[in-house]
Amino acid sequence: MKNKTWSGRFKKQINEDVLDFSQSLTVDIVLYEADILVTEAHVEMLYECGHISLKEMRKIRAGLKKLRSLANNGELPWSVEFEDVHMNIENALVDLIGEVGKKIHLGRSRNDLVATDMRIYLRELLDVTSAEIREFRKTITNLAVKYHANIFPGYTHLQIAQPVTFGHHLLAWQEMMARDEQRLNNVKSMINVMPLGSAALSGTSLKLDRSMVAKKLGFDGVTKNSMDAVSDRDYIVDFAHANAMTMMHLSRISEELILWMNPQFNLIEIDESFCTGSSIMPQKKNPDVLELVRGKSGAVYGNLMSLFVLLKGLPLTYNRDLQEDKNIIFESIDTTISSIDIINKLMQTLKLNKENAHYLAETSFSTATDLAEYLSAKGVAFRDSHHIVGSVVKYCESKNMSMKQLTIQEFNTFSKLIDNDVYKYISVEHSVSARKNIGSTSPKNVLKNAKQVLSTLHKNKTKK
Ligand code: ARG
Repeated sequence: MKNKTWSGRFKKQINEDVLDFSQSLTVDIVLYEADILVTEAHVEMLYECGHISLKEMRKIRAGLKKLRSLANNGELPWSVEFEDVHMNIENALVDLIGEVGKKIHLGRSRNDLVATDMRIYLRELLDVTSAEIREFRKTITNLAVKYHANIFPGYTHLQIAQPVTFGHHLLAWQEMMARDEQRLNNVKSMINVMPLGSAALSGTSLKLDRSMVAKKLGFDGVTKNSMDAVSDRDYIVDFAHANAMTMMHLSRISEELILWMNPQFNLIEIDESFCTGSSIMPQKKNPDVLELVRGKSGAVYGNLMSLFVLLKGLPLTYNRDLQEDKNIIFESIDTTISSIDIINKLMQTLKLNKENAHYLAETSFSTATDLAEYLSAKGVAFRDSHHIVGSVVKYCESKNMSMKQLTIQEFNTFSKLIDNDVYKYISVEHSVSARKNIGSTSPKNVLKNAKQVLSTLHKNKTKK
């Protein structure tokens, strides 16, 4: 057994099974780059503060550089005997540069180190997630431009309710995803605070320049309480929550796409390369990708709950339970990123079945509200208009007709105020274009909003 980290205190070596049970290397190995980065900044600061010599600092930095390239090339001999990524790096460094490598842990503990590494790593994954969301927002918004004027059935209670433009529906998804991106930005401000310097729990007697390290590592600032800093995992719960929310949105989007591509709705086509067949039924074209996204959202919600349960009983400060946060959040992030990516690609193949969408949008007396508003524009109180149109609908249903099939004489049996222009007002085209208030479905609004979204997406990209 090579692990000498705490062998000064122990007579016996660690039991093999305990080591196997407690090691975290297999999960936290992904933190190696962050760990090296943090150590580089830490030793520079140790030198600036006079705790190590320039020569020592240079030797350590050169060693870390070498370690990085060994690790990147898969040539670092990782060993679970050293328990985790942090002690593997430290031991490998000592092997590489000798005694001076033992100085890197001055003024820090694995408790503040693991928290710092995690914040750096999650910060990167957060940026990847945001970038995926932006790509998806672009795809949806481009489709909204393309279909800004196409009529589509709008639903409430999954019953056709009123006509909308397809672009408007797509931009509803855009809004959900824009909030997800904003939520991630909020999470980033929670993540980007540096715990290093908190050491085990109470800080260190060494004089450190924490702000210098924070600046080198791109943190916005340093944590204010060492005890909180080593036990805080709120930012992980926040990230898991942001993931859960995104998966909830993707799951709802999936559900809609599944319905729409069902031949009974026949509203859209998805390219068959994104569909799957059946092993027995030769005719099947199934939306498995979307069902999987919907299904995977369950585990991501569960992970949020797992983190809450993991944390709820923990006394300050560090407890080994905290090691278990990684698998959970990494799974959430992986699932979320891959789900956004696949839905984004699938959406790029989407085609609207324009005729059928138009046809369905005209069914179910979808412009009955327009008729009521038409009467109210002529002075009828809305409640009375509602009642009159209710009678019109009842009449049409009994005759198995749509409203536009009624003659003007038939209309006049319900209200003398109805003129020949009514046919225009109850058309789906008029219905959507009349809805011009901010946030409403008119083609003009949709096009304007879509272009605004695209220009923000474009602008933010050039800023980066
Ligand atoms: N492997 C541990 C983790 O990921 C590192 C911190 C260990 N600290 C300790 N006091 N045992 O949480």
